[in-house]
Amino acid sequence: MTALRFSASDLQKTAGKHTDCAILPVGSKLKLDDAGRALAKDSAGVMAAALKAGEFNGNVGETLLVHSPGTAARILMIGVGDGKLGRSDYLKISSALARAALSSKANDAQMHLGALKIHVRDWEWFCQRIATDLVYQSYRYKLTLSKPKASPTLSRFVILSDDAAMTRQAKSALNRGAQTGAGINLARELANTPANYCTPEHLAKEARRLARGNDKASCKVLNEKAMAELGMHSLLSVTAGTATPAKLIVLEYKGGKRGEAPHVLVGKGITFDSGGISLKPGAKMDEMKFDMGGAASVLGTMQAVMDMALPLNIVSIIAAAENMPSSTATKPGDVVTSMAGITIEILNTDAEGRLVLCDALTYAERFKPASVVDIATLTGACVVALGSHASGLYANNEDLAAQLLDAGTTSHDRAWRMPLWDDYQKQLDSNFADMGNIGGPGGGSITAACFLARFATKYNWAHLDVAGSAWDSAPKGATGRPVGLLTQYLCDRVAGD
Ligand code: BES
Ligand code: MN
Ligand code: ZN
Repeated sequence: MTALRFSASDLQKTAGKHTDCAILPVGSKLKLDDAGRALAKDSAGVMAAALKAGEFNGNVGETLLVHSPGTAARILMIGVGDGKLGRSDYLKISSALARAALSSKANDAQMHLGALKIHVRDWEWFCQRIATDLVYQSYRYKLTLSKPKASPTLSRFVILSDDAAMTRQAKSALNRGAQTGAGINLARELANTPANYCTPEHLAKEARRLARGNDKASCKVLNEKAMAELGMHSLLSVTAGTATPAKLIVLEYKGGKRGEAPHVLVGKGITFDSGGISLKPGAKMDEMKFDMGGAASVLGTMQAVMDMALPLNIVSIIAAAENMPSSTATKPGDVVTSMAGITIEILNTDAEGRLVLCDALTYAERFKPASVVDIATLTGACVVALGSHASGLYANNEDLAAQLLDAGTTSHDRAWRMPLWDDYQKQLDSNFADMGNIGGPGGGSITAACFLARFATKYNWAHLDVAGSAWDSAPKGATGRPVGLLTQYLCDRVAGD
C-alpha cells in the first residue's frame, strides 16, 4: 500500500551527501551535538538564524522547518525537551515529526539522533513508532473522489546512527512499523469504502487477494447455502432482508509449525447496518458503513503479520453481511436456531452483530484454537462507556486478557477491561427462546459480550468492542484500530509467552 521505504544507515557513510530533508532532534537548551553543528555549518547560517529568532524552543514535539542552501535542502528541527522522556513524549515526538516531514515537499529524509538520548529499551519501539506514524499519516482516501488530494511526496526515510547495533535494530523495527502502518491503512481503506462498493463479496475479494500474495496462506469463502448446511441460522437471519449475499470468509495463514494450535481472529463484517426492521434513526446512519471495522481490522492485521512472516498459525474468520429491512427481513420476535443449537429470540434486529458473530464463534471451534479474539463495532453503549480512546475488552481467560491489554499499551492502541460477570447473564433471558438478543437498558456493551460468551465456551476467548475506537466522527474516517493492538499481540506470541 505504501510507497514509503525505510532504512537505517551508518552516519559516517552519509556525511556530505545530499538529502531533501535532514531531521535533527534539538533539546530545549538548543545546544547542538556534532551532527547538529555540522548541519548548522552546512546551512550557511540559516539554521543558526532560525534558532536565534526564538521561534523554536526545543520543547517536546515542537517542530521548525528551514530551507537551506547546503547539502541538506531542508532542516527539520524537532524538539525533544531537556528532561527524561517517557513513552508519551516519544509518541508526541514521533507524530509531530511525521506530520512536519510529510507536509514538506521532500522526497527523502534522513533523521539524526542529535539531542535524543534514548534508552536502548525504547529504541526499537521508537523506530517502529516513527515508521507506523509516517505510513499512517501518508494515507489519503481516494477511491470515490474524482479529484483526490495528492499523497505526500516523501518516499524514503533513513535513520542515521553511529552505533552498528542500533542501526541494525532500527532497520528491522522500521520495517515492522511500516508493515503495521500498512495493515492499519488497509483497515482504514476498507472501512472508509462506501457500502455500495464494500459488500461482503468485496471483503471476500480482499481476503483472496491477501491469500494469493503469500504461499503459506489460503482462503475459503462460504456462501449462504454452505452456511445453511452448517446450521448458521442466526447469521443468516441478519442477511434475510437484503439482496446482497452474505459471506463467511476464512483466511488461513500457516506460518507456524505443522499442527501447532492457531490463533483465531473473528471479525464483525456488517457492511451496512441500517438496523433492519428495528430501523435506526436517519442522523449519522451513513456511519454504519463502518460496521465492518472489526472485519477490516482482521484483514489489516493479517496483511501485517503475513508481511512480517510471523512464525505462527493464524486463522481469521469474517462474518460478512448487510443488515437491511424488507418484506423478507427478520422481524422482532422471530426465533432462530444458531449453529450451536441455542435458540435466540430476536427482540431487536439492530442487535445484529452478536447474531453473526455467535455462529462464527461456533465455527471457530473446528480449528482447536490456542486463542480466539473477536473484534466488533458491537454497541453504542461501549461508546458511552469508554468514548473513543479505549476499546472495550472482555475475556474468559486472565492470561489472554493481560496479553491483549499489554499489546494495547505497547502499540498505544489501548483497551480497557470490562466485566463479564454471570450476574449480567439473566438480562438475556427470554420467554420464547433459550435467550434474547438484547439485554435491556443497563450495561449494553456488557450484555452483548455476555451473549457472545455463551458461544465461546470451548476455548480461551476475548472480545474487543471497537464501536468507539474504530472510527472518528469529526472528521469522518476509519482509524484502523485495533490493528496496532492485534499485530503487537501476535508479534508478542512469537516469543512464546
Ligand atoms: N453497529 C451497531 C453498534 C454501533 C453503534 C457502533 C454506534 C458504532 C456506533 C450495533 O449493531 C447496534 O446497532 N447495536 C445496538 C444494540 C441495541 C439494539 C441493543 C446499539 O448499540 O444501539
Ligand atoms: Mn445494529
Ligand atoms: Zn451493527
